[in-house]
Amino acid sequence: MKIRAFGHALPKRSVTNEELTRFLDTSDEWIQTHTGIQSRRIMTGGETLSLLGAQAAKMALERANLAPKDLDYILCSTTRGEMSFPSTACLIQQRLAAACPCLDVNAGCTGFLYALDVARAMLESSRVKRVLVVCAEQLSRLTDWKDRGTCVLFGDGAGAALCENGDGLKTVRLTAEGDAASLYGWPAGGNCPFDDHIPKEQPLKMNGQEIFKFAVSRSQRDIEAVMDDCGITADAVDYFVLHQANRRILDAVRSRLKQLAEKFPVNITTHGNTSSACIPVLLSEMEGDGRLKKGQTLVLSAFGAGLTTGAAVLQY
Ligand code: ACO
Repeated sequence: MKIRAFGHALPKRSVTNEELTRFLDTSDEWIQTHTGIQSRRIMTGGETLSLLGAQAAKMALERANLAPKDLDYILCSTTRGEMSFPSTACLIQQRLAAACPCLDVNAGCTGFLYALDVARAMLESSRVKRVLVVCAEQLSRLTDWKDRGTCVLFGDGAGAALCENGDGLKTVRLTAEGDAASLYGWPAGGNCPFDDHIPKEQPLKMNGQEIFKFAVSRSQRDIEAVMDDCGITADAVDYFVLHQANRRILDAVRSRLKQLAEKFPVNITTHGNTSSACIPVLLSEMEGDGRLKKGQTLVLSAFGAGLTTGAAVLQY
């Protein structure tokens, strides 16, 4: 499999740290020094996940010179679909006026890498020629805006990758360690009169320090494993494109790999953590500003709820 083009779309509304201090006991200084975040984009005014997802998809299609009718499958990675059903992939398909099967994938913030692996398997089966992976995330609806330990971290956005047959994706490594204690959320449980064990709806809860340690150790392990699979060293990699959860996590992984900051692109500063959309949004921005060029060697790495992790080596 290879990726032919990336696309992205972000909500119009940018929310600064200073705006958060108006209703939270926090400060711009705390948020910046502990996370690297200055602002994040938040969906407002009727913006929907399928709208952003379709905009990201259109950008990728345009860059690849293709039309929605050329798509054979749409995979949407989302931790919280726009609706319980239909799937967000179906809603995106409707907006694109495409005519192909659609499926949602949920692997937390690792969703992009999981979806790439599913796309690769579909392409290898030779039943499809083109798979659109869209990561569409609205963490602003999952977080508790009274919890300063979590709500300051996240943002909304969508990123897309157009996948075709080729040999760009050299290897993918995925892991999952089922754990519903360190990072979780409960949806609304309905009102079934026969069930007296319906859990109450609960926003995102996270053991920040535990996830921090998990993220640094697993990212280093996964990155070294995929480089080893491909017989390359860190010096041969053009960019390490990592999940944007915390600037300090990126810096810790970078220093363990002994690499320069230029090789670790960042958009957490202005976007916050957009869950599975982080990596495709960042790659799309790099495609747009010329940093990402055909032929470059990329290492992708993410971690998230599950707990899941994933890494890949991709030659663009
Ligand atoms: N403003 C001011 N103070 C704060 C804030 C805030 N926004 N948030 C927490 N604090 C306080 C805490 O209450 C605590 O105060 P206390 O010492 O009086 O109790 C103090 O700051 C230190 O809190 P810590 O939790 O130790 O802060 P830490 O330096 O660990 O940073 C953070 C917290 C940013 C959450 C960090 O642990 C982190 O990034 N963890 C990883 C999170 C992550 O990667 N999640 C990704 C998964 S998301 C997904 O998959 C959906």
